[in-house]
Amino acid sequence: MTDTWSDRAEVYRTSRAHSEGADLDLLVEWSAGARTAIDVATGGGHVARRLREAGVQVVTVDPARGMQPDVVSRAEELPFEDHVFDVAVTRVAGHHFEDVRAATRELARVSADRVLVVDTLFQGEAGEEAEKLRDPSHVRNYSEEEWRSFLEGAGLDVEEIRTFEMPIDFDEWLARTGCTGEDAERARDLLADRIDDGMLRMTRIALRARVPR
Ligand SMILES: C[S@@+](CC[C@H](N)C(=O)[O-])C[C@H]1O[C@@H](n2cnc3c(N)ncnc32)[C@H](O)[C@@H]1O
Repeated sequence: MTDTWSDRAEVYRTSRAHSEGADLDLLVEWSAGARTAIDVATGGGHVARRLREAGVQVVTVDPARGMQPDVVSRAEELPFEDHVFDVAVTRVAGHHFEDVRAATRELARVSADRVLVVDTLFQGEAGEEAEKLRDPSHVRNYSEEEWRSFLEGAGLDVEEIRTFEMPIDFDEWLARTGCTGEDAERARDLLADRIDDGMLRMTRIALRARVPR
């Protein structure tokens, strides 16, 4: 899995679906007042870049060396002391974590104040089948109720939830993971009711949670 992600690093650095978006703007807004942050599963580093531009000191973490994180680590076992970052954030990555509950507990443990999560929202089992065909490292997208339960299960208070409609270019989405041939056609069939003019309707969910005082 890790080598696969390293091979994809440049594609994710330059992907417009990752380098821009209203969800990124919201993460900057939700980090207001923070001095330090950890960007877990940083990928192309887009959250870290935006937070650094806003004056936040950011440590990036990713298990794939090719993503050039500050620290190579899985989200499930973060090599940091308790409560050392004002903000712990992870964006568009929770659906790849082998143990999302353990990862959420780790985000809560290293945060002194806020945990921010953005991920692709669960939109039915056909969507999950298509995601796995496109990218075998896909574990699962989760519903709003599931994300709320992960955060509350980690001892956090969920303060705000937003969703974003984010249409993405379907062919570029397949190309990012090298999905072609029969798998690509099956994925297209499974998602047909969500594709208009080559754009796949995707929804992202953003959750802001607080470490109780
Ligand atoms: C879609 S990319 C991340 C996108 C990035 N956060 C952004 O905002 O553009 C998914 C990332 O999750 C990382 N990843 C996969 N499994 C992981 C795990 N168990 N713990 C932490 N990161 C993981 C991959 O290496 C990859 O860099």
